[in-house]
Amino acid sequence: MSAKTQFDLQQFLAMRTKTVNVALDKFLPSATTRPATIHKAMRYSLFAGGKRMRPALCLAAAAACGGKEADALPLACAVECIHTYSLIHDDLPAMDDDDFRRGKPTNHKMFGDGIAVLAGDALLTQAFEIAAQAKGWPRYPHQKIILEIARAAGSLQLVAGQVADLEGEGKKLSVDELRYIHERKTSALLCCSVRLGGMSANCTSAQLKALTDFGYHVGLAFQVIDDILDVTQTSEQLGKTAGKDRQAQKATYPAIVGLEKSRKIAENLTARAFAALSRIAGFKGKATPLEALAEFLLKRDK
Ligand code: IPE
Ligand code: IPE
Ligand code: MG
Ligand code: MG
Ligand code: MG
Repeated sequence: MSAKTQFDLQQFLAMRTKTVNVALDKFLPSATTRPATIHKAMRYSLFAGGKRMRPALCLAAAAACGGKEADALPLACAVECIHTYSLIHDDLPAMDDDDFRRGKPTNHKMFGDGIAVLAGDALLTQAFEIAAQAKGWPRYPHQKIILEIARAAGSLQLVAGQVADLEGEGKKLSVDELRYIHERKTSALLCCSVRLGGMSANCTSAQLKALTDFGYHVGLAFQVIDDILDVTQTSEQLGKTAGKDRQAQKATYPAIVGLEKSRKIAENLTARAFAALSRIAGFKGKATPLEALAEFLLKRDK
């Protein structure tokens, strides 16, 4: 399950990150636009140095379906806004109570809890404003694009996962209950990012099905690895405080099945993601960046 060896993923990621950052900078009100505090706070977290994995997956999925990455760009920016909002709120004292994120003090540490709540609200709303400016495609008009994002971010998916995550603190959950949390808090938005990329290429329903299967499994693997890294890495390496899951008695894969088995689970999920791409011939060799991303996400160290 190794991605094509010739493909330079680091270069791919560096270029996409630059493109996404330039586009986000254009979409967002400037830091001096009144009320300046909120725009500074939104930009602070958005440009703090995230890995930009969701935009990269979105753009790579567009390429896999023969689309133009420029058409996918607003959608890639929209998912990053939602992701960043979810992190700002996730870090609040009322939730995970974290002081560091993306190598910097968290949003509420810099701007206070009230502004951090509002910066999250504003980024979530900003995502829809940006997505509404995307082109719209014959198979996927704006209505479908907006529905896609709203469903992934809403109270049945991302928010549901965050609710279950909070309610799971201090409890010994089953693997199925933990899977429920991971599907929603993390996999839903990752899968949505991949699907939006395909939609921006006006993909066929067979392609969308394969992308959905891919995104679902990559998304689950992503959170298993996140749980593992919390145990194995340092705060400096992660840019966020390591060891917090155990301290907060979070339900995680390492806590429930141990590190070794967690790694195996992440590998199996990634293999399922690869299988999803190989099942249909429709990608005609254009899925190399997607494959390389899945492999990278499994092996990442931060
Ligand atoms: C962290 O996501 C939160 C999870 C859903 C696990 P990332 O690891 O993608 O965070 P950034 O964007 O690189 O900061
Ligand atoms: C975060 O999960 C998921 C969302 C923000 C939706 P975590 O709480 O595990 O993420 P980190 O470890 O703080 O980045
Ligand atoms: Mg959390
Ligand atoms: Mg957290
Ligand atoms: Mg975590």
